[in-house]
Amino acid sequence: LEGQWRLGILLFSSALAAVGCAKGTADEDGGRPDVSHLDGAALYASHCAACHGEVGEGGVGPTLIDWDRDEDTLIDIVEVRMPTTNPTACDEACATAVARYVIAAFTSEALACDEVQPGARQLRLLTRREYRNTIFDLFPSFSSDATGSADDCRTAHFRYDPRGRALSSVHVAGSFNEWSSSAWPMRLDPSTGAFTLERELGEGTHQYKFVLDGSEWIADPDNADGADDGFGSYNSVITIACDAAPDPSTGALADPTTSFPVETRPDGFPFDDHAASGRVTAVHADEQIRAAERIVSALGDDIEDLAPCDLAEGASCAEEFARTFGERAFRRPPTDAEIARYGALVLAGDSPIDGMRVAVRAFLVSPHFLYRSETGEPLEDGSFALTGWEIASALSYGLWGSMPDEALFAAARDGALSSDEDLEREARRLLDDSRARVTIRAFAVQWLGVEAISDQPKSAVLFPDADDALREAMLEETASFVAHVVFDGSGRYDELVSADYTFADARLAAHYGLDGVGEEGNQRVTTAEVRRAGVLGHAALLARYAHSDQSSPIQRGIFVRRRLLCQEFAAPPPDAGGVPDVDPSATTRERFAQHTEREACASCHRYIDDLGFGFESFDALGRYRTMDGDLPVDSRGNLNDVEGLGTNTDAPFSTLPELGRILAESDAAEACFVRQYVRFQRGAREGAAERCGIDALTKRFHDSGGDIRSLIVESYLSPAFRRRR
Ligand code: HEC
Ligand code: HEC
Repeated sequence: LEGQWRLGILLFSSALAAVGCAKGTADEDGGRPDVSHLDGAALYASHCAACHGEVGEGGVGPTLIDWDRDEDTLIDIVEVRMPTTNPTACDEACATAVARYVIAAFTSEALACDEVQPGARQLRLLTRREYRNTIFDLFPSFSSDATGSADDCRTAHFRYDPRGRALSSVHVAGSFNEWSSSAWPMRLDPSTGAFTLERELGEGTHQYKFVLDGSEWIADPDNADGADDGFGSYNSVITIACDAAPDPSTGALADPTTSFPVETRPDGFPFDDHAASGRVTAVHADEQIRAAERIVSALGDDIEDLAPCDLAEGASCAEEFARTFGERAFRRPPTDAEIARYGALVLAGDSPIDGMRVAVRAFLVSPHFLYRSETGEPLEDGSFALTGWEIASALSYGLWGSMPDEALFAAARDGALSSDEDLEREARRLLDDSRARVTIRAFAVQWLGVEAISDQPKSAVLFPDADDALREAMLEETASFVAHVVFDGSGRYDELVSADYTFADARLAAHYGLDGVGEEGNQRVTTAEVRRAGVLGHAALLARYAHSDQSSPIQRGIFVRRRLLCQEFAAPPPDAGGVPDVDPSATTRERFAQHTEREACASCHRYIDDLGFGFESFDALGRYRTMDGDLPVDSRGNLNDVEGLGTNTDAPFSTLPELGRILAESDAAEACFVRQYVRFQRGAREGAAERCGIDALTKRFHDSGGDIRSLIVESYLSPAFRRRR
């Protein structure tokens, strides 16, 4: 059976590879190779778009819109000179296919955006994030307590009720904080009058006392466990234990995706959900089968609760289970044949519960569970309309990273997901749920690329305190800051790049040289005095775009161009050489001078290095600095050509808040944010066909003052979302 499942998943996956693959068409003619098997759009995207723009609008290279010379001239230019960095990369058939695509697609008429074109039909393999969330939503017996167990089991909840006594402070002092009477203040909860504090502690046994008003030491009156304190009294004792093996009957399940393959992210696509790359390989299939086994065994006898009826009834109940569970697992009503097949699996078991185990495993390795579909139903004009069920899944995965809840399923069942009002109502309802925050946090760290900080080495000599805890604090800052702006702050794009505040815990605050942050988790702090602005000043970002022993103006400059302005650059030529060695007697700027002096390098680096130098006040771990080796830092930067490469404008700045203001006011940056969000939501990089839809969204985003929540909702109202080609 297992072998069949594996084969089934793989066969299905390769059949899918054909979906949405538009082939270029061309006639055989005078000496030119047959290019009918080539996809001119894809070749253009990989060989030319970085310099000439997604739709030939221009960039490092000139515009190609409305080509006014003939096809042969264009082919010759490509064969002989393009791409400039590697002129042989696209010759003969490639050059011919690309030239035909450019001439046919890049005309001002075609690009006029009279109407928004439908998006691409696609199937989307659940990402690890989505798979994990789906499992916990699909099986309610894996309670949310159990999902957080890895961390929750470490959390100590301290609580002291003064029972009417007026106290100005209560602290927890213990073996975990060197018995400090001031390090861990408890917070007064005005609604109960009690002082509380939650802290994560290491595994093992800890002793503690409460310190009232800074001087009176008492044991925890509500904790009966005590140990002699050696002063004639006793300490309270708390034990932290996490290693207890998960008890199947309590519904504990460890992350089932830890050994799933990491998602592929093609160049220019920063997110984990790239649909075209999401294909089940043999490794995926093996891991999915193993995960299904682990899940079923963790369910234990709770699996019976998945049947809405008494399994002793036999066939009728088996099929009722297949129908109701199938609808949730496949996120659409199962067909009659599916109901019969999965019902039969239940009946074939040694006992009904055994049969359910087999059936649930079969559901979990089905392609209909592993992939969500955005293929739609055919319309008369040859395009396709997403079904209500597909819309429900797109909304829930896009906003929550998980399967629809019962209300969304009900809307799909009732056909109440078709009008703009329906979609807007559901999108707003989902946005108001805390799960939307989790998704925005994932979007934030992927958009900015900072996740990579987790396994990026830093020189142990220069940065001895670069440990995992600091890296985690950095990531937490970025995720919580972006979620705060979107949900609790102004909700506007410009705040992301220019805010004068952030969130830091004690560790990170010390890293930033900020005082006054206590031990109770993340706190809001003002960053103006430390010359940071929005995400630009986040340590995660500054450290991510740096080397282990030195800052990297080039990577920081490229970051702003690619991620914040959507300006692309082709890869450097093979002879570019490495990063110059650290030399204390020369500034970074001097060491990198040749990049803008040599013509062969300047075509790209004149947009990169001057911008990146503006980040020089921050070292490779994101700490503020005034000295670069033996010389004072020179952090003058220039975000030239901000609205478009080749426009010859200057935008000088010398601090990150100044850079933040330039970006906050830039139309290109605002438009790029829309593109990045839409990439995340659609799981695809936009091509020429998507351009008009994105332009329309950008205009509305601009008119709303850059309101991110509106953008999220609007992106689902776009015809490019609901209609497909
Ligand atoms: C690394 C950047 C880069 C890449 C990649 C690149 N080009 Fe260019 N292209 C340029 C630059 C710079 C120029 C202007 C200088 C020149 O003509 O050599 C140019 C010029 C051209 C011209 C001449 C335009 C005119 O009006 O005379 C054409 C046509 C062209 N490119 C097409 C392509 C095509 C098609 C591809 C993909 C196969 C491509 N280029 C890839 C940078 C690039
Ligand atoms: C076609 C555009 C282009 C040209 C031309 C170009 N580069 Fe680059 N260069 C890049 C890009 C893009 C990167 C970033 C690569 C990455 O990490 O994704 C880069 C990165 C580098 C880096 C690594 C910087 C770091 O800190 O990681 C060095 C060094 C470099 N280039 C030197 C040169 C030199 C020297 C030349 C001229 C011989 C040159 N480049 C020409 C685009 C270009």
